[in-house]
Parts: sequence; structure tokens; C-alpha cells
Amino acid sequence: MEESKKTLYSAVQPTNCLTIGNYIGAIKNWVNLQNDYNCFYAIANMHAITVRQNPADLRRNTLALLALYIACGVDPEKCTLYLQSHVPAHAELCWVLNSYTYVGEMERMTQFKDKSAKHADNINMGLMDYPVLMAADILLYRADVVPVGLDQRQHLEIARDIAQRFNNAYSPTFTVPEGVYMKVGAKINDLLDPTKKMSKSAENANGSVFLSDDRDAVMRKFKRAVTDSDAQIKYDPENKPGVSNLLTIYSVFAGKTVEQAEKEFAGVGYGEFKLAVGEAVADRLAPLQAEQARLLADKAYLDGVLKKGAESAARTANRTLAKVYKKIGFYQI
Ligand code: TRP
Repeated sequence: MEESKKTLYSAVQPTNCLTIGNYIGAIKNWVNLQNDYNCFYAIANMHAITVRQNPADLRRNTLALLALYIACGVDPEKCTLYLQSHVPAHAELCWVLNSYTYVGEMERMTQFKDKSAKHADNINMGLMDYPVLMAADILLYRADVVPVGLDQRQHLEIARDIAQRFNNAYSPTFTVPEGVYMKVGAKINDLLDPTKKMSKSAENANGSVFLSDDRDAVMRKFKRAVTDSDAQIKYDPENKPGVSNLLTIYSVFAGKTVEQAEKEFAGVGYGEFKLAVGEAVADRLAPLQAEQARLLADKAYLDGVLKKGAESAARTANRTLAKVYKKIGFYQI
């Protein structure tokens, strides 16, 4: 670990299939940041079980996600890439922090309220405690920065509050992390309802392009993408959300600016434009999928990555946990 670099922490849940929005918003970010920071990247399977998971799916999704991140360029030699449940310190610090977090704060969390409404038959303690576990994740590694989607802002604020509360009650122990929120330009919207964010759980799966979609599926979805009746390929999110969304997607996947894309498609019909966007996406996904499949076939390699990641993560995490235990008066031998 290089001392001069700041520490960065992020995690992703191994649930469902990721969309091209996740690729642009999260995965590419992880790749870009790994040279400039000491990065800890976790697969948050302990967060995932706060809503019911099929065990076989959870296991499979964990490895699929790991392989995908590596295929996309997250380099286990450059960063600490690990599975949350492999490092017991997460649960241990979470338990301690629970006593420094108020029930009222957790009840007010937007995501808790949303998920409680969505899973009314399973409002479990883990769901309520989710933000405390997330605070434990971040604080264990004394992370300076935490890049997350805007939906995680409230969770990040509570992690900062808990850190400050503990530091004030004892003495400076935790680094108070800064949230870095996804750039607006990187936002990808639904192909059928372009005023909404592309989501892995949208009602109509045809509006979302998944990283696991094959070329046929990608092309079919882009062919059906909603545009407008104005027949002009221009970036204007307010008045032309569909076309603007397609231009954003194209620019990212073809590695061009939106202005370049506008010029390239000046005078072109929507049908042809949509095909070109679909092809740019499919061309980029094909090698990623092939590399992911190759990695998934090499389980020994993936297990090795996880083992090394867990050892490296635990070294840092256990140091923080020991400090915390000492400060709160847990007798040590
Ligand atoms: N809750 C985050 C999400 O769903 C995932 C996550 C878990 C996380 N622990 C974290 C993100 C710590 C950043 C830091 O996106």
C-alpha cells in the first residue's frame, strides 16, 4: 500500500444482472480510480441478504460479479478486491457501531422506508441495520473517499455522523469519509421511458440493457428505443430525452464526445442511428462477456483473488477494530 495515496472504498451488491448504466456509473469508475488511490473494492454479500436471496443464485452472482469487474479492468494486483463475508471485522465493527446509532435515525432512512414498502412481509433487522453495516465497511479501512451513486448519499452521511460521534465520544479513531457522487453526465436512462434512470429492476426489461445481453438482445432493445417525432439527432435532455440518452450511450461506448456524436449523425434517420448505438454497445460488450466467461471457467484463479483480497483487507480492518475495542474498554489479552 502506498502511503502517499488516499484511501478509497466502494462496494457493490451481488444481486441481479448489471445494466450498461452500472457499467458506466460504477465499474468504469472503479477502473479509473485504481491508479490514484489505495482502493478497497468489496462485493457486499452481507448487505445482499437483507432481502431474500436464493442461495445458489447468490453464490453464482458473487463469482459472476467478481469475474465481470476483473474483465472490465479492475486489477486485483492494484487494488484490494474481496468478498465482504470473508472479513469478519465487518460484522464485528457493525455490532459496536449499533450501540452508537439511534433507532430513530435508521427508521428515517429513505431506502429503509422504500424497501420496507416493497418487502412488507420481510422488514427484518438487517434491512434496518443496513446503513450501520455500510458505515462499518467504510470506517474499517479509514477511507478518505467513497464513490457511490446518488441513492447512497444518505447512507454516506450517516456513516460520517457515526464516525464523528465515536471520535467525539472517545478520541479521533475513524477517518470521516467524503462521498463522491456519480457525475450527472454519466446517467443512463431507460430506453422505453427515457425520463427514468435505467434500472436492473425496471418493470419492462426491454428498457434496460444488461451487461449479459447478447448481440441480438442488445440490437432488439435499441431498435425499440423511444425517440420523438422531431427527426433531429440533437442533445437536448429536456425536450428530447430519448435521443439525448442514446447520444450519451453512444458517446460512452464509442469513446467519443456527445458533440462528435451529434456531428457524426447529422441528417441521419432515427432508425439508422439506433442501429449504430446498438452496434457500439454490442461491440464493447462482446469482448467483456468473453473475458468474463474465460475467468469464470478458472475458479482456482478467482478463489486465489478472493483469498489474497480477504487477507489484505483483514490486515487493515483488524487494525482499526483493535483500536476500537481498546477505546471502548473491551479487555484485551
Ligand atoms: N449500499 C451500496 C449499494 O447498494 C453498496 C455498499 C455496501 C457500499 N457497502 C458499501 C458502497 C460501502 C460504498 C461503501 O450501492
